Amino acid sequence: MRSLRSGFSPASLLTGAATLVTLGALLVAAPAAQAADTPLRDLAAAKGKAIGTAVTGSKLTGTYGDIAGAQFNWLTPGNAMKWETVEPSRGTYNWAEADQIVAFAQAHNQQVRGHTLVWHSQNPDWLENGTWTPAELSTLLQDHISTEVTRYKGRLAAWDVVNEPFNEDGTYRSTLWYNGLGADYIAQALTWARAADASAKLYINDYNVEGVNAKSTALYNLVKSLKERGVPIDGVGLQAHLILGQVPATFQQNIQRFADLGVDVAITELDIRMQLPASEAKLTQQAADYKAVLDACVAVSGCSGVTVWGFTDSDSWIPDVFEGYGAATPYDENYVPKPAYHAIATALGGTTTPPTGACTATYGVTSQWNTGFTGQVRIACSGAALSAWRVSWSFGAGQRITQAWNATCTQTGAAVSCVNASYNGTVPNGGSVTFGFNGAWSGSNPVPAVTVG
Ligand code: XIL
Repeated sequence: MRSLRSGFSPASLLTGAATLVTLGALLVAAPAAQAADTPLRDLAAAKGKAIGTAVTGSKLTGTYGDIAGAQFNWLTPGNAMKWETVEPSRGTYNWAEADQIVAFAQAHNQQVRGHTLVWHSQNPDWLENGTWTPAELSTLLQDHISTEVTRYKGRLAAWDVVNEPFNEDGTYRSTLWYNGLGADYIAQALTWARAADASAKLYINDYNVEGVNAKSTALYNLVKSLKERGVPIDGVGLQAHLILGQVPATFQQNIQRFADLGVDVAITELDIRMQLPASEAKLTQQAADYKAVLDACVAVSGCSGVTVWGFTDSDSWIPDVFEGYGAATPYDENYVPKPAYHAIATALGGTTTPPTGACTATYGVTSQWNTGFTGQVRIACSGAALSAWRVSWSFGAGQRITQAWNATCTQTGAAVSCVNASYNGTVPNGGSVTFGFNGAWSGSNPVPAVTVG
């Protein structure tokens, strides 16, 4: 593309309409040259699958908002629809973050998975610490479900109605709901949700139910009996909070057996955590694990899609909850796509996987303000090594580099070329080097395709 464009001199642009039309056609052709960067949501849509992410409403601006809007076709509010968020004190509702996420999704042509109506966790204190008769508890739950589902009626594609009802051995978890109302709280919750919104798909969602095991079999038996009873149940959510290298061997078989029951299956909260610090070897394993999960879903027509539980390591719950673990999502904390991102793209039919035995460069915008931005490029080698490097790209929207560190960058027109500093030319096999820069932008700041040599 660059060599084609450089064929035009400013003078030739002024020679007549025909030349301008030609230039227009060439510019339109530019995205095709970046087909390798097809957003995940376009790849997923071509396969009839959902690719979603959990989001935090307050972060949906800047780079975080750009990626959430551009790459995903489903959103799940990470916390915004939980009972403690929407009704922190009895009768006082706070829908601000939930409304914001639903509006963002509508503006970006995305579907929303409501999460979650009935759970043992993240309930408000007034509810958790109250003393309730079974009748009072039943009324509280029915009111909660009716109020929340009705508020978003017709606007959510799915609801995780019941979350985490089982123990690891397949018995029912002892919770406020089970202890007060018995196991049928599940059927009642589903029935109330259906009464409030006939169009949203109603799910039961749980973790450690990805492979065939006692817990997933209990979920299977529950769904089977709910269907036999005519209780409205449309899907099961397999959360998939996985550990590096531990994708269950029976993942696809398990998805298939639920699909064979006549319910949808969604992977609802995928993340794959590793012991910190991350390394190239761990990130490579993580990519293989992400690919295995996506492959399993793609292989079963009843699997509606995959949602990641946060798309960036800077917005992941893992480090807060699993001490010493992290790096669980497809983008690093600076919004640079990790090998896991490329693995998801590949599983969805994309072509962005770095070839094996190569060094690749990944470009990310780490922060952005009115007129400026900070960018980062990471050069990683696997099965190859470099003793010196040059990374090149062409800015697509008039961006200009103003300052660089850990590299020497020059810019001519749109073309940028960055070479290593004296101290970081070596990128060993299995290693990586990162450099950064500040730039100026206006209008838009698209991510260019970069090459390394
Ligand atoms: C997590 C959120 O990501 C955290 O921000 C919050 O502090 C705790 O809950 N299973 C679920 C999710 O169904 O709702 C949980 O989300 C993660 C485990």
